Amino acid sequence: MPGSRVRRSPKPSSASDEKDAINRVKDQPIMIRLKHVVFGAVGLPVIVLLGAWIGFFNVGASSGHWKVTALFLQLAMRSAVRTYALAVDAPKTLDRRGLPAAAGHFARGCAICHGEPGEPRSPAVMRMLPQPPNLALTVGDWTDAQLFRIVKHGIRFTGMPAWPARDRDDEVWAMVAFLRELPKLDANEFRALAFDAGQATGGEREPAAPAALADCRRCHGSDGQGRGDLVPALAGQKQAYLFASLHAFASGDRTSGFMALPVTGVDPADLAALARHFAAQRPLSADRDQVPAEMVNKGQQIAEIGIPERNVPACSGCHIGSDKNPIYPHLDGQHAAYLERQLKLFRSENRGGTQFWRIMATAAQRLTDDDIRAVSAYFSKRSEGPQ
Ligand code: HEC
Ligand code: HEC
Ligand code: HEC
Repeated sequence: MPGSRVRRSPKPSSASDEKDAINRVKDQPIMIRLKHVVFGAVGLPVIVLLGAWIGFFNVGASSGHWKVTALFLQLAMRSAVRTYALAVDAPKTLDRRGLPAAAGHFARGCAICHGEPGEPRSPAVMRMLPQPPNLALTVGDWTDAQLFRIVKHGIRFTGMPAWPARDRDDEVWAMVAFLRELPKLDANEFRALAFDAGQATGGEREPAAPAALADCRRCHGSDGQGRGDLVPALAGQKQAYLFASLHAFASGDRTSGFMALPVTGVDPADLAALARHFAAQRPLSADRDQVPAEMVNKGQQIAEIGIPERNVPACSGCHIGSDKNPIYPHLDGQHAAYLERQLKLFRSENRGGTQFWRIMATAAQRLTDDDIRAVSAYFSKRSEGPQ
């Protein structure tokens, strides 16, 4: 029928045909959007990669970041530090006994970028991107946990390095305690904390001493007694033990961020000379801290007879007047806080050392916190030779 033919014609003569036409038009932008997505997912990365390959992007630091890039990086850094710091268990009060070692480390390992009181950042560092901030002005922006996170792990893409030793959270906390002090220090106060007073006058005159000695004195003191309770006294220690320990720090068998820097790159012959120097210094004087007599007595028992029911050997066999092995160190007169710290590190197997360190790990794993405090107090009060 001619009538039905007319109705089948493609002309939009009815309401339903009109709808079809509209749908077709609507479909078109959807197709275009899909194309965009495919292009974005595949094409853009290819273009970016191509741009990188032909060297399109300017990686020069001189012109700085685009403002939007700088804002994004700052936001990402601050948010990441804030989030990751939530998992950090910060102590209520920071232990200040590590301040001299942390200040000494700051002078050598951090001031080169961040400057120090009385010594502003160098023009070379000011051209870094991002610029290392003057920490005296910025540490107030961060909580202790956030500073811990930054100092322990560093910050990617900025040049801010991670702590030089793994598993030494105690050292990172010492640095956080120092950073809290930093804004209060003037140039003289900083030098007094970071350098041994004897250094101002050159300490003892020793023309043959290796140049690295000046660095050691920063923390161990010109007299070799150790500045602050957490830096060991070296004066009068066995030379073979000192030498073996320096090797252990240099090879990473014993980890300490404070010691990693000073021993890096020192000639083995100089390490031997340094061990000789400290071994020859006047032996240790006993620690002067007041400790209850019963604690010292308990410590003496452990030292002389051990704890038989827990298979703890007497320490005296190896540590008192023993020439069994030149690597078994003297403990007499050593700082109690240092001895405690080392025993806890042995216990958690975070203190390597010479080839004999496992002997100590086994012994320390059988000691409680109270045993450790008592035996450390006892040895710190002992002086060399018959009492
Ligand atoms: C090679 C240079 C360099 C060294 C060395 C360095 N830092 Fe940094 N540090 C930086 C840079 C760059 C930043 C800035 C990062 C940013 O803004 O995203 C930074 C940031 C920081 C921050 C965060 C400060 C803030 O307000 O943004 C702290 C805290 C910090 N450093 C502490 C230290 C300590 C402690 C040491 C030594 C153990 C150290 N840094 C060694 C380059 C360095
Ligand atoms: C920034 C401070 C600092 C500097 C600089 C430093 N030391 Fe130390 N040193 C320490 C600390 C802290 C320890 C304890 C490490 C630990 O807890 O494991 C230590 C440990 C040692 C020990 C092990 C002693 C023992 O009883 O086991 C020796 C040996 C030593 N240092 C020698 C040196 C020599 C030699 C130099 C110079 C080349 C030097 N140190 C520079 C802080 C420092
Ligand atoms: C069989 C021998 C032996 C016995 C027993 C022993 N030690 Fe040790 N101790 C060592 C040796 C070896 C080292 C050196 C480890 C190293 O650094 O490689 C050492 C190191 C130490 C240190 C670290 C000293 C320093 O300057 O860093 C402490 C603290 C210590 N011992 C405490 C004790 C106590 C406390 C006992 C008794 C419960 C004890 N030791 C029993 C062999 C022994």
